Amino acid sequence: MLYTDEMLNSMKKVELSRESRIGQVPRRMTAEEKDILLAENHPDYIKSAFTTLSVGANKGQKVPCALADLLQGKSRILGKKIDLKTIKYESDVLIIGGGGSGASAALEAYNAGCKVVMVTKLRIGDANTMMAEGGIQAADKENDSPATHYLDAFGGGHFTNKPELLKKLVYKAPEAIKWLNDMGVMFDKDENGVMATTPGGGTSRNRMHACADYSGAEIMRVLRDEVWNDNIEVVEFTSAIEILKDDYGNAAGAILLNMETGEVSIAKAKTVVICTGGAGRLHYQDFPTSNHYGATADGLVLAYRAGAVLRDADSIQYHPTGVAYPAQMRGALVTEKVRSIGAMLVNVNGEAFMNPLECRDVTASSIIRECRRGNGVKTPLGDAIWLDSPMIDMIHGEGYLEKKLPGMLRMYQKMGIDMRKEPILIYPTLHYQNGGVDVNADSMTTTVNNLYVAGEAAGGVHGRNRLMGNSLLDVIVFGRNAGQYAAARAKEIPMPKKLNFNHVKEFDKEIKAAGVEYKELSPKLLPNYNTIKTL
Ligand code: FUM
Repeated sequence: MLYTDEMLNSMKKVELSRESRIGQVPRRMTAEEKDILLAENHPDYIKSAFTTLSVGANKGQKVPCALADLLQGKSRILGKKIDLKTIKYESDVLIIGGGGSGASAALEAYNAGCKVVMVTKLRIGDANTMMAEGGIQAADKENDSPATHYLDAFGGGHFTNKPELLKKLVYKAPEAIKWLNDMGVMFDKDENGVMATTPGGGTSRNRMHACADYSGAEIMRVLRDEVWNDNIEVVEFTSAIEILKDDYGNAAGAILLNMETGEVSIAKAKTVVICTGGAGRLHYQDFPTSNHYGATADGLVLAYRAGAVLRDADSIQYHPTGVAYPAQMRGALVTEKVRSIGAMLVNVNGEAFMNPLECRDVTASSIIRECRRGNGVKTPLGDAIWLDSPMIDMIHGEGYLEKKLPGMLRMYQKMGIDMRKEPILIYPTLHYQNGGVDVNADSMTTTVNNLYVAGEAAGGVHGRNRLMGNSLLDVIVFGRNAGQYAAARAKEIPMPKKLNFNHVKEFDKEIKAAGVEYKELSPKLLPNYNTIKTL
């Protein structure tokens, strides 16, 4: 039996209250209510989960403990003999990472006439982009504007976004959608060919463009095809384990590790673009994650050791609706689109306790609070909240949920759950690192020349809380941006003559001087599930 009697009794209450909830959306919280809610319930406020860095550009600042262990971890090359003279890959632009931002950067750099090499520790497309569901924001309708998009994202980010980055994100958004559409991404459109758009948490307009509920997979399908069509050199199952520099301290390549053979090799390049994504697989505070297997914060480690500055590295996004039950799907993403098209968040008593389209940090905190108040549904995996998915077809008519959420419907059907008829159990899941490496509007790091960072590995665009659909947009806009600027720079400068990794040795000296004990080898590359608490 999938559900306990207690769960079934609660489900009955949800069914009984459903009709009366249609059209009765709870009010939005005031700014003061949100501040209190966050301070008391958001995981970022749990002091013991963070520690202060002792070494590097962010010395004295707090980051999650698991991230600190990696940023101050032991380099994989320490004590190894590295032959810097034998160059295996030489290119104008070296791209590290094969997700949406890496592919976008590669395409732009290639189109600018550069020789491009992409290295990726898994396969091209094995990345969080592929797993994105709900959509991509762009203000391209008459009732909307990039300025409105800016205000929504700035407010959602608690006014901490880097203005020049956010401005670029929103003003380049319509062009990003056109770029993708022209390459063949099959966006949802109405019978007249007009893009279908929906709202998201914290958006004041319907500006979410989607490809059903597999928006990221569809976008990645097209980007990957384009990379292959252009014959861009893609080196798979190969990780960058350190950045290399030239005699002037500028980025000039990377030390690579073949994940299958263990071979170490050298890539030399005029410019380097880090597109390595996020950190969900570090399972901060033991949260499950919606993230791809490779999301282990590698880019932050590479950049930090090379001297880059991080910003908002203590700001983590917990997606409000991860699967809470059944166990096989725990932590998997239940797209925000389920709420955008009408499903409400409902407690054990069948009560809608909040507006389902608050921003993510507020929604996640409100779910955590509702469970702490004893209003969660008890499951063998912990407390959970109902997401009342049958409301969707009640509001829009039969067949609507299946059309808009085919992937989600099938995922639940495999577990014997028909989300058109039964509500589903959710709880926040670790989803996104809001911060990352500090970059300028040209995507170059603020302290290391010729080192560019794009996508989730970069910080500043979203401030301390990202809105739905601004991540897919970020990987496209800033992947392209990094590729264009890295290519332009590569055309201006000569190929570096000599390479070094002196910064790695210096970092090791600083670690020792600070009395920090190495706890991890870093970058981590792959998660280690022997150390994660199992249920
Ligand atoms: O809920 C979602 O579909 C996730 C979207 C996002 O993180 O942008």
